[in-house]
Amino acid sequence: MQTEYPKVPVGIVDSEGFRLDVCAGLRQRQRSIPPKYFYDAQGSALFGQICETAEYYLTRTETAILDEHSAEMMGLIGQPCALVEFGCGSAVKTPLLLRHLDSSSVCVLIDICKPQLEQTEARLAAQFPNIKIFAVCADYTQLEALPLPVSCDLRPVIFFPGSTIGNYTPEEAQHLLRKAAKLIGPNGSMLIGVDCKKEPVILNAAYNDKAGLTKAFNLNLLARMERELGAKLEPDGFAHYAYYNPVPGRVEMHLVSRFDQVIRISGEEFWIGEGESIQTENSYKYWPDEFQDLAKSAGWDTEMVWTDADKFFSIHLLRVS
Ligand code: AVI
Repeated sequence: MQTEYPKVPVGIVDSEGFRLDVCAGLRQRQRSIPPKYFYDAQGSALFGQICETAEYYLTRTETAILDEHSAEMMGLIGQPCALVEFGCGSAVKTPLLLRHLDSSSVCVLIDICKPQLEQTEARLAAQFPNIKIFAVCADYTQLEALPLPVSCDLRPVIFFPGSTIGNYTPEEAQHLLRKAAKLIGPNGSMLIGVDCKKEPVILNAAYNDKAGLTKAFNLNLLARMERELGAKLEPDGFAHYAYYNPVPGRVEMHLVSRFDQVIRISGEEFWIGEGESIQTENSYKYWPDEFQDLAKSAGWDTEMVWTDADKFFSIHLLRVS
């Protein structure tokens, strides 16, 4: 098997793409910035710290489900396989699957943040010297083909943990899942983590941790705009605001302006009134059967669902219909 990849990153936005997206978002009536821009080096590090807070139950609950059931999951998926992780970040959960992978299987890590991707690849390669690990710096939403090593004919399985699917609207999620089904082909499967609906008090706490890490993560977007776009703004002029909105079934994250102010980006001015918000994230929550219906509408059958005792989080094994 040849293992070289093209060195050109796929779908990575440069600072011009960032500027265009931010300006387009700030021109809308409900101003918004796409959440993918949270994840520069600082934002990725903050996200890692959020995952360790007491309030952010998602990571530890999904990890516990994987820890308990990963042997069964890998057994159902079948080996050897090509495990392809979408948006791996620091891939803290991946070892729970890799420990059950045989040495003829491969693991492909895809992430938009190159420094973190390189660190993750090095760490996993040292931890699992018998498994071929590849890193592909790409935006997984922009892939035109699954980035498998040349002449790899292993059965592909997408690993998409963390409930990142919740950061897309249901329509976007359906589109992404449909695209993933097309990319992976008739033999493929997907192991996907999905956060469940639950009491708002628990959800609100998860996005308003006491240590202020989620607030720092949200405000880092403004700091990134200053650093990378030379934006002129008052970072202290915005408040972190996150709450569960039960009607669409999502946690919304906003930056709320504390006073009337102006943001200047390369000659363009955005006047933001006191109390006006810039929406920075949606995090949709699904009952397991609600998510199965969404997956079905995008060309996936559910083979198995695992949850924790409290039904806080679910992991779905899907097969292309
Ligand atoms: C990456 N994603 C699933 C996280 C979430 O819960 O929606 C991002 C996050 N935003 C605030 N805290 C964590």
